[in-house]
Amino acid sequence: MTDADNHPDSGNRPDTDRTETGDRPGAALLDVRDLNVVYRGSGWRRPSFHALHDVSIRIGAGETVGLVGESGSGKTTLGRALLGLAPVSSGSVTFDGTDITRAGRRARRALSRDIQVVFQDPYSSLNPAMSVESILAEPLRAQGTSRAEASVRIGELLRQIGLTADAGRRYPREFSGGQRQRIAIARALALEPRLIVCDEPVSALDLSTQARILDLLIDIQQQTGVAYLFISHDLSVVRYICHRVAVMFKGRIVETGDGAAVTSDPHHPYTRRLLMASPLPDPVRQAERRRRYAALA
Ligand SMILES: Nc1ncnc2c1ncn2[C@@H]1O[C@H](COP(=O)(O)OP(=O)(O)O)[C@@H](O)[C@H]1O
Ligand SMILES: [Mg+2]
Repeated sequence: MTDADNHPDSGNRPDTDRTETGDRPGAALLDVRDLNVVYRGSGWRRPSFHALHDVSIRIGAGETVGLVGESGSGKTTLGRALLGLAPVSSGSVTFDGTDITRAGRRARRALSRDIQVVFQDPYSSLNPAMSVESILAEPLRAQGTSRAEASVRIGELLRQIGLTADAGRRYPREFSGGQRQRIAIARALALEPRLIVCDEPVSALDLSTQARILDLLIDIQQQTGVAYLFISHDLSVVRYICHRVAVMFKGRIVETGDGAAVTSDPHHPYTRRLLMASPLPDPVRQAERRRRYAALA
């Protein structure tokens, strides 16, 4: 292993990061710098745990940045830190030029207009006792939107996610996993956010449904200019949707760069292993990859 391999930014090659705004100084919508998150322990049985080490990541307006890494590497922790839900011990999160690292409850409520989240499990993230209409009305009403305006907006949202207008009167249990994830996406979109943290949004869905949800997210981005932090353990999903990719390993970003470059020609040994582990549909490339994996191991 060379020194470059040890450096967290070893894969950050400016020559491949030419198109997106996130790496251009001053242009980032979201700018995370040297973020450290330490979960406090509770006595000797549960010691404190340093989950994120000096994590820096930038996302430009309208950009999709993938965050990949194995389970337990700290991806969700970073997503939660952006939402003010993780114990940040040092470093900063800046959104649109404002430091939001330690934003209080009131500031967070205002921020929920701009930063939203979609979780992995569409079964547990939607309240089963609420109709789809009330689920979508909730964020709008919380921000003071009138009933009449909310109803118009809900119609728009259902159209945008490809559900018929009568879906509003139905309940989450009446929908498939993919449709529920569409509803969760609609709820995230209700307030026209500028950034959505998507935490493994397709990981619970079957392959063909995954592809349709990814296409929906891409369409929405083209229509609205929203940016995504797209968290996934699956490199092939990230390759499909992301402009740039950051690879997380044990709480550190070990490689960042152009989506196609990182996912096809990774520099860090960990990313190479991750690439070998992600399924590719093409059997020829699959066989080739198995051969290279064997050579690496
Ligand atoms: N509330 C918590 N308290 C203590 N440790 C936590 C907490 N949440 C997550 N962790 C630990 O932090 C690490 C990163 O977790 P997480 O961010 O969920 O990873 P990922 O999303 O990549 O699977 C894991 O080792 C996990 O056990
Ligand atoms: Mg996670």
